[in-house]
Amino acid sequence: MKRLTVIFIVLALSFSLVSCGGNETAGGSDPETTLRSSQTTEMETSASAADMSGQSEEAVEEDGTNLLVAYFSYAENADLPDDVDASSSASIQIWNGETTGNTGVVAAMIAQTTGADLFSIQTVEKYPDTYDATIDKGQEEQSADARPELANQIENLDNYDVIFLGYPNWWGDMPMAVYSFLDEVDLSGKTIVPFVTSGGSGFSNTLSVIENMESGATVQEGLSIGGSSATDAQDRVNEWLSSLGYAG
Ligand SMILES: Cc1cc2nc3c(=O)[nH]c(=O)nc-3n(C[C@H](O)[C@H](O)[C@H](O)COP(=O)(O)O)c2cc1C
Repeated sequence: MKRLTVIFIVLALSFSLVSCGGNETAGGSDPETTLRSSQTTEMETSASAADMSGQSEEAVEEDGTNLLVAYFSYAENADLPDDVDASSSASIQIWNGETTGNTGVVAAMIAQTTGADLFSIQTVEKYPDTYDATIDKGQEEQSADARPELANQIENLDNYDVIFLGYPNWWGDMPMAVYSFLDEVDLSGKTIVPFVTSGGSGFSNTLSVIENMESGATVQEGLSIGGSSATDAQDRVNEWLSSLGYAG
């Protein structure tokens, strides 16, 4: 009987030790294990929070616009005095309190109607501060097939599906800075919506140039505005945007 009691006690003790070991493995009663476990959970949570925050950033971006107006305009590429007289040149406008040019005005109208972001294509080297000298400079650059260095780049180009691309007609072509721009960006899979301002030449053959340079993009119907009527163009701009489904 005594022997049986001893065997029973030994068995009971063994069982109780195995049970304690089991608890430790589960981490339930070991503060260190519990801490590690909660750190792991926190790390997992913070990793998934990072994912979430990545997702929510995307969601924010998705809530933001996927439309961008990228444009070149003379007055934003010349060292003009702050108190420049807008009436001194056919290509200087004060619009929304900012100095811009005809193309810049149309760009602002597009942004106003669609909520698009604006990107002003700017060169490192400024153009002359007189329009006449700029006419010569533009011709020189075109003859040299120049690619003026750009001073700025689009951040987060991936966020944009539609690029409104605006420029003045320079010598029957785009300013060479717009070539620099199109060389730098890859607009494959995106939609390009061109617009031009001019003294009357309109797009010349620039639409096919854009199609060739950005062959992976879809080029939609463009809008041509006379430079002298740029500031009165909001209605035409809105009609055009409506016809393409970007207004309203
Ligand atoms: C270098 C240069 C060349 C130009 N060449 C032409 C041209 O060939 N045909 C035309 O209709 N207008 C021409 N223009 C006029 C501009 O296209 C017009 O003034 C345009 O609205 C200017 O836009 P911006 O003010 O945004 O620069 C030229 C202007 C410059 C400065």
